[in-house]
Amino acid sequence: MQAWVIGNWKQNPATRHDVNALLDDLLFAINEKEHADATSCQLMVAPSCIHIAAVNDRLRNSSVFCAAQDISAHSASTGAYTGDCSAQQIVDAGAAWTILGHSERRQYHQESHGCLLQKMTHALTQNLGVVFCIGETQVQYDAKETLAVIDAQLSVIKVLLAQNPEFIAGLSERLIIAYEPVWAIGTGKVPTVAEVSTTHRHIKQTLAGFNETLDNMTVLYGGSVNVDNADIFAADAMIDGALVGGASLKAESFLAIAMAFSRTTA
Ligand code: 13P
Repeated sequence: MQAWVIGNWKQNPATRHDVNALLDDLLFAINEKEHADATSCQLMVAPSCIHIAAVNDRLRNSSVFCAAQDISAHSASTGAYTGDCSAQQIVDAGAAWTILGHSERRQYHQESHGCLLQKMTHALTQNLGVVFCIGETQVQYDAKETLAVIDAQLSVIKVLLAQNPEFIAGLSERLIIAYEPVWAIGTGKVPTVAEVSTTHRHIKQTLAGFNETLDNMTVLYGGSVNVDNADIFAADAMIDGALVGGASLKAESFLAIAMAFSRTTA
């Protein structure tokens, strides 16, 4: 299976100048021979909405994909939804994918399962691939509720397919799951590889139970992935790549993580 390494830039960098500098570094390094094998895993970056069109223009002749970090829950197209950006607008700006359900959206914007069902429906209606983030909080982890939390979050996909059976065609290519324990995001704390592996196996089995065509879905790990720990995550067969926050803001660390995942799929 092809590995994916995705950079979630969150609300960074601050300026268009800094976005261009990051892209300069990234594209230069990708073209360097020493990083040639980084391209054997699929790279994607998710800039702020305001930077998507410009980032996409610069990535047009590269192998790197561009994603949004979120889309409107209210309309797939247009409407009186001040501040929102629709799936159609994201596609028009050049992105082929969107992240949905990131824990920061769930936490700071109170995104519910119902809201995420709407967003996923709009994304797939506009043929936008979805990187769906799931994961438990520290309290839930301590209470050993990880799999129960994940089951509830994945049930959005079950409802989606019940409501829109036509979405199943090609869904295995348009849906990626990112398991991101909330307590591991930006903290430097990570679960053991064995814990991540067990959780990923459960996610893959659950999706296969929804529909037989979802029998080996791509499941990424996210949460404090860095140059030092990427190798151990990459070595596990259940971990198909990484969703990277902080370490994706420097080309060098982002590509070093990509190389760790490239080696295991080469
Ligand atoms: P960090 O890699 O900074 O922990 O962030 C992970 C994340 O939230 C990616 O979506």
